[in-house]
Formats: sequence, C-alpha cells, structure tokens
Amino acid sequence: MNQDVKEILISEEKIQSKVKELGKLLSDEYASTLPLCVGILKGAAPFMADLTRAMSIPLEMDFMAVSSYGASTKSSGVVRILKDLDSSVEGRDVLIMEDIIDTGLTLSYLIELLKGRNAKSVKVVTLLNKPARRKVDLVPDYCGYEIPDEFVIGYGLDYREIYRNLPYIGILKEEVYSS
Ligand code: PRP
Ligand code: MN
Ligand code: MG
Repeated sequence: MNQDVKEILISEEKIQSKVKELGKLLSDEYASTLPLCVGILKGAAPFMADLTRAMSIPLEMDFMAVSSYGASTKSSGVVRILKDLDSSVEGRDVLIMEDIIDTGLTLSYLIELLKGRNAKSVKVVTLLNKPARRKVDLVPDYCGYEIPDEFVIGYGLDYREIYRNLPYIGILKEEVYSS
C-alpha cells in the first residue's frame, strides 16, 4: 500500500468486479444505439479505460477537459471548457463517464450543455458518488459506490495531480494534505 494512504476504501478486486457488472448492464442498455462515451479528463481516464473494455457492444469514445472558474464563482457552477468534444452529439445517445460526483456542479453544467447541443439522451455513469457534498440536485443514472465524505485518491482521483495510478480507492492520510 502507498505510504500516504491511511486505509483502502475500495480494493482493486472490488473495483474490477463492479466495473464488470456495470459493463454488462450498460451493454444491455446501449445495445444497438452506438453510444458516445464521454470521459471527463483527467480523473475519468482509468475508469473509462476499464469500463469501455467491459462493454461488449460497439461504442465511440471522446473526451472533454473542464475547469471550474475561481472560488468566487464556483457556486454558480459555470465551468470553463479546456478541451471540447471532437464529435457532434446531435441525435446521439451520450454516456458521460466520471470517476466521482462531489458537489455535482461540473456534471450538471455539462449535462445541460450537451442537451443544448441536441443530444438524443445524456446519461451519467460514475464509479463513486459522494452525496453528502452535493450542491445541486443531481442523481447519477449508474453508480458504482456511494462513499462517505473522506479525502479519497486513486483509480483516477488525485491530490495535487498525484496518486491517479493507484489501482484502488484509498483514504489520504490527513498529514499529507494538512502540511
Ligand atoms: C474532480 C472529479 C470530477 C469533479 C467532481 O475533477 O474528477 O470531475 O471533480 O466534482 P464536482 O461534483 O464538485 O463538480 P477535478 O476538477 O479535480 O479534475 P481532474 O479530474 O483533472 O482531477
Ligand atoms: Mn474530474
Ligand atoms: Mg482533481
């Protein structure tokens, strides 16, 4: 285990079995629709890589990178698009893939944006959900695990850009982020 991890919250084995289960479910739901799977960089990258390989249907992959505006306007939920999609979503069944939903501000903005571009449907699959931190009413369509309000890292989730490559979800030691 990484020395900065206090406790493993979700093991690699549990993540992988959940990903397989979600992959089967989504393969049924999106069979014959050629979904456009949209990963939100950078956190979603490991989950998307595993989840799409657990989906046994034709699909397309595309990516967006976003960033919140400064602290003063964060509650507005407006996000800045750093990298937009390459593809048009018009008439497409869009499946957004995320590592975690926290306040929900990032996703609620993106969902409205993609609906406004006339996607046929916009749904969300997230590995983790932290409902305790929610600021807007947003319920994921598909979710791996609901987690408590702890500082989690690994499997895409970072602290100052590090730890994304851990194969499990860990709780970060307080001494790491309080110093
Ligand atoms: C994290 C996470 C989600 C978002 C969730 O990304 O990966 O995308 O925050 O937060 P919210 O529900 O409060 O909007 P972050 O902005 O840290 O970028 P990263 O994916 O590059 O780490
Ligand atoms: Mn992210
Ligand atoms: Mg981050």
